[in-house]
Amino acid sequence: MNQQTHPDKAAHRPSEAPEPQIAWTDGEGASRTAALFGDSFGGVPDGVWAAPGRVNLIGEHVDYNGGLCLPIALPHRTFVALARRDDGVVRVVSALAPSKVWSGTVADVVPGSVSSWVAYAAGPLWSLTQDGFGVGGFDAAVDSCVPLGAGLSSSAAIECAVAVALDEVYGLGQLVLGDAGRARLAAACVRAENEVAGAPTGGMDQAASMRALAGHALLLDNVDASIEQVPFDLESAGLELLVIDTRAEHALVDGQYAARRAACHAAAGRLGVATLREVDDLDAALAVLPDPVEAARVRHVVTEIARVREFTDLVRAGRVREVGPLLDASHESLRVDYEVSCAELDLAVATARAAGALGARMTGGGFGGSAIALIEAGAAASVAGAVAAAFASAGMGEPAFLAAVAGPGAGRVAQS
Ligand code: GLA
Repeated sequence: MNQQTHPDKAAHRPSEAPEPQIAWTDGEGASRTAALFGDSFGGVPDGVWAAPGRVNLIGEHVDYNGGLCLPIALPHRTFVALARRDDGVVRVVSALAPSKVWSGTVADVVPGSVSSWVAYAAGPLWSLTQDGFGVGGFDAAVDSCVPLGAGLSSSAAIECAVAVALDEVYGLGQLVLGDAGRARLAAACVRAENEVAGAPTGGMDQAASMRALAGHALLLDNVDASIEQVPFDLESAGLELLVIDTRAEHALVDGQYAARRAACHAAAGRLGVATLREVDDLDAALAVLPDPVEAARVRHVVTEIARVREFTDLVRAGRVREVGPLLDASHESLRVDYEVSCAELDLAVATARAAGALGARMTGGGFGGSAIALIEAGAAASVAGAVAAAFASAGMGEPAFLAAVAGPGAGRVAQS
């Protein structure tokens, strides 16, 4: 959903430096969703809440292996204008299809009965109820500046925005508890995604959207969902993080993601460990895995977790300029051993590096979606221009760009 691309900008030639997609302000998101709410349901919402998309700095395809990952929340958020209803009715509407209000009851929101974006918007109602929270009906209007299908967690952003809204309108008291409550809400959102939407994802996206702090990367340990907030300030290092949305189609509810997850699970079983996080002697593990594909998957997971540790150590030590080779190695591992990259991602990464990036890698689930490039401050236009030109020469569709600055997690938006 690239609503923030101004029509004038759609006409630029690919070899010109494309404009980055700007995140909406609180006021912009609040007024858009409140207007959609009024048009769809009449009246005013109880409030407007927002939750961010994310980019993962490093630690890809390790969350469902009990690994470590290091995402940041994007300034790009999904906004939800929501009002509690005490008659058990649930109605949701999206700015993408404002004439199609989905309407049902609390009893209709169960796994298998709702699909597409409605599962993300209504799913937290089901999972919070399963977790013992007293929630009920609501009207909700959703709009977003998180690019859709770009591997930037647009679905987790919907879930998390609705979950924080329900927390407040139903007085669940989780947000006021701080991170412990946010962790509970994030877990409910993962369950909504896995069981209501049917996407077998890990927990990274919801953790980032719910638990991130502005100016920090979130070091998430997926063994127990514990976190460390790691100060992450590229500006003072004279750097920027450029997100390249390849616009190549990306879908997680397909067989590839589930197949990677199943291969890891099978390998863990063969190795006699609960998760691949427990593999501490990679060579010994590889020696006993008969299937070379399974062995390659394990090599990715184990080496990627080690890269997260190294990356985090460098960031903690104020040496973020030195993380580039780790980004590059992560991409190679995902491309060769995990086989989740694609031609567009590989071209984006190679071109960004050739245009001066300190390092670059695909981010998110892969098979399309986005890459990140660590670049010198002020180099965004030239790197983006080079990538756009390379895509045009290769006959690929036009990519989009955004600047990733670590933003805050989900919460209520001040009405302006
Ligand atoms: C998707 C999933 C996450 C994670 C990443 C890969 O974004 O939603 O849980 O597995 O892929 O790191």
